[in-house]
Amino acid sequence: MSFTGNIGSAAGRNGQRADGHVLLVGGGVIGKGWAVQLLAHGHRVVLADPAVGADEVARHVRQNRHAVESLGGDLDGWESRLHVVHDTGGGLEAALDGAVWVQESGPEDPGFKSRLAAWLDERLSPEVVIASSTSGTMPSALAAECTSAPGRVVVGHPFHPVPVIPLVEVVGNAHTADETAERACDFYRSLGKRPVRVRREVPGHLANRLQAALWREAYSLVERGVATVADVDAAITNGPGLRWALLGPLLGQHLGGGPGGMAHTLEHLGPPAQEWMDDLRDARLSPELVSLLVDGVDREVGDRGADELSAVRDALLVRLLQDKRDAGRSLP
Ligand SMILES: NC(=O)c1ccc[n+]([C@@H]2O[C@H](COP(=O)([O-])OP(=O)(O)OC[C@H]3O[C@@H](n4cnc5c(N)ncnc54)[C@H](O)[C@@H]3O)[C@@H](O)[C@H]2O)c1
Repeated sequence: MSFTGNIGSAAGRNGQRADGHVLLVGGGVIGKGWAVQLLAHGHRVVLADPAVGADEVARHVRQNRHAVESLGGDLDGWESRLHVVHDTGGGLEAALDGAVWVQESGPEDPGFKSRLAAWLDERLSPEVVIASSTSGTMPSALAAECTSAPGRVVVGHPFHPVPVIPLVEVVGNAHTADETAERACDFYRSLGKRPVRVRREVPGHLANRLQAALWREAYSLVERGVATVADVDAAITNGPGLRWALLGPLLGQHLGGGPGGMAHTLEHLGPPAQEWMDDLRDARLSPELVSLLVDGVDREVGDRGADELSAVRDALLVRLLQDKRDAGRSLP
């Protein structure tokens, strides 16, 4: 086993979680994000990745410290609660001892994920949930090779950047009991996340399907010359996107109906909306369309670097999330 980090016994100022650790399998963009989120909520973390060192994880924690603490986390004493394992054979096996939750964020390869789930399922006691961050693998495929307790294999799909965006989509497979899915939601809630249960497995879960519906039409409008890439982004960020972040697309429609609410909106604007829906086009990501989109984004970005844009995005997101939290129960 090769250890480059260290776990002490401290559990942080808000660390009520002295027993056991959360095992993270995969420490790329998403796995490192989970590490920050878990450490900021008092957990001990073992992160197993053949290619990611403790220094890299530590850098990520420091980069995200301000954001995660502004949103209610507390990273006091995190160094002593992080343990990084490179050996994903025997080292990973040793790390199963004391694991109370597994969050897999390895490569998006369904074969890898289902073999790993089966290997974990064979070794971990049945109450330990095996959650996968997967965007692209269905829960039933994840659990297909599990024979011990397949129902505890669930999708817990976060959004990037994990320490900032609250959403985690929880999707069970055909064997998953309601109680297990609810336990997963409780776990993510305890990390300051906003879990949403997806009641039936469908490709892409929920939020990415909704994004895909919008991307399809945006790509088509750009392809047909109706709008530029920058026009599409400006229309959303200065228009409905502002309301979506507060109310969602459906509650927003309800308020648009005035005193008559959703019923009035659908009565009044339903018929034209039906025409727009009927007119929506398909989009195929042909090489020509891809280069149109890439060129359009390059023009839109200009000389601003991705790091600069990401920093502005994250700072504003933190402020928005703080304001949303202060608004309490009035927002979904
Ligand atoms: N990037 C996103 O925006 C995003 C968002 C939500 C969910 N996801 C999902 O999260 C998962 C991880 O995505 P990512 O973007 O972090 O990918 P990534 O490529 O950044 O990270 C994958 C990591 O897995 C490691 N790995 C490879 N083999 C391994 C093994 N045998 N054991 C343990 N680790 C191993 C790699 O070294 C790498 O660090 C995917 O399933 C993806 O669908 C990604």
